[in-house]
Amino acid sequence: MDSVENRGKETMMAGALPMLEALKAGMRAAWTDGDFGQIARYDTRGGEDFARRLGLQPGERVLDVACGTGNFALPAARIGASVTGVDFAPNLLVQARARAAAGGS
Ligand SMILES: C[S@@+](CC[C@H](N)C(=O)[O-])C[C@H]1O[C@@H](n2cnc3c(N)ncnc32)[C@H](O)[C@@H]1O
Repeated sequence: MDSVENRGKETMMAGALPMLEALKAGMRAAWTDGDFGQIARYDTRGGEDFARRLGLQPGERVLDVACGTGNFALPAARIGASVTGVDFAPNLLVQARARAAAGGS
């Protein structure tokens, strides 16, 4: 619906988008700088426990947003779920794929 009020909101949103993009770029830089994968190794058990507690069933579809190195996505896939992992840190996705290729542990 077109109205002065709506156009005002759209203008505000358009102004906020560059700020959100800058914020996201800064966060991505923080997560890709160094190797968070080394830290994530200390929490593999947490992801496994969480996947088990969810009671996932084989064939169930799971979307793991911010999957990192796959601490939850990989055990969920081992249970038989059909898992899609997304993350904005490409270096962590590389590690998740390598873990998956090596059997998912
Ligand atoms: C604390 S780590 C957790 C990773 C994983 N879920 C785990 O349990 O090991 C947070 C993750 O969120 C990702 N992340 C943060 N903000 C994100 C965003 N806006 N879009 C996609 N991924 C994001 C980071 O790249 C990082 O991999």
